[in-house]
Amino acid sequence: MDERVVTGEWQQEDSAAELSLRPTNLNQYIGQQKVKENLSIFIQAAKMREEALDHVLLYGPPGLGKTTLAAIIANEMGVQFRSTSGPAIERSGDLAAILSSLEPGDVLFIDEVHRLPRSVEEILYPAMEDFFLDIVIGSGPSARSVQIDLPPFTLVGATTRAGLLSAPLRDRFGVMSRLEFYGTQALCDIVERTAEIFATTITHDAAMEIARRSRGTPRIANRLLKRIRDLSQVKGESEISLPTTEQALTMLQVDNAGLDHIDHKLLTSMMDGFHGGPVGLDTIAATIGEESQTIEDVYEPYLLQIGFIQRTPRGRVVTPKAYHHFGKGKEDNG
Ligand SMILES: Nc1ncnc2c1ncn2[C@@H]1O[C@H](COP(=O)(O)OP(=O)(O)OP(=O)(O)O)[C@@H](O)[C@H]1O
Ligand SMILES: [Mg+2]
Repeated sequence: MDERVVTGEWQQEDSAAELSLRPTNLNQYIGQQKVKENLSIFIQAAKMREEALDHVLLYGPPGLGKTTLAAIIANEMGVQFRSTSGPAIERSGDLAAILSSLEPGDVLFIDEVHRLPRSVEEILYPAMEDFFLDIVIGSGPSARSVQIDLPPFTLVGATTRAGLLSAPLRDRFGVMSRLEFYGTQALCDIVERTAEIFATTITHDAAMEIARRSRGTPRIANRLLKRIRDLSQVKGESEISLPTTEQALTMLQVDNAGLDHIDHKLLTSMMDGFHGGPVGLDTIAATIGEESQTIEDVYEPYLLQIGFIQRTPRGRVVTPKAYHHFGKGKEDNG
């Protein structure tokens, strides 16, 4: 895959900054108002009852703050945060070891929870529901099943695709929160907060411009800010200006809707090769040389959100709005 500056997916260049940029409590977590309000009530109630918080499933496109929010939940509950991921847990014994090391009330965060192996998932059902482990020791005629009590804990699962979760697992989450793309104002607040942490200043216009071009995604906003700061510094600016921001975004090939060369390739191949659709996801994938799953999880959600493509039963369709963005008329094309 080409390197993309506007992908919500985590990239190596994000690693240094991300930890320092993560807000640590709900008040610092910008946007996602509905999710925050709900969680805040559940957290307060659980604390009043001195119980573990119900299991929480966070879902939504990459880079919207699922991991950040999971850590905030632990922090607000005043418990330990333990973190792992679906693909990292290969055998049920691995999960059993983690679960039996938890303290009462702890948050166990499982990223990419839809990728847990099925045998591991089955261990999780009684653990989540009644806080015990059902383990088979030995094999053959000497095999026996033992039950081990667990402390009450909170499982926070994150996934980009709630639809891929098995029904029994999904049913065991008491709280399901869908993270939405952020609005421009929220992203602007995030950019200004990040600039402060970086000890740089940025004009409000410039922060708004970054916000508009970040595909509703905090991780992208922070990444763009970092790149733009570099140019601004080299130019010797005392604060990051709008012209420098625009110049850097042009250099990064991010257009005024936050789209890059891959989005352009995707949309123009649909417009030029398929009269704007309907065209099936697998056909698009083969045409532009990307995986269907990546298109569906990473590129497409934002294009759907801004109304550049639509899903129909017969495939994806490019909308007039997208034609307009590219200065094309649908009729010139058909
Ligand atoms: N609501 C927010 N307020 C401020 N900063 C945020 C917010 N949400 C996310 N961020 C910033 O965006 C970065 C990415 O967030 P995070 O790693 O939590 O995303 P994610 O949804 O877990 O992504 P992935 O799906 O790739 O795991 C964080 O480093 C954080 O700085
Ligand atoms: Mg994450």
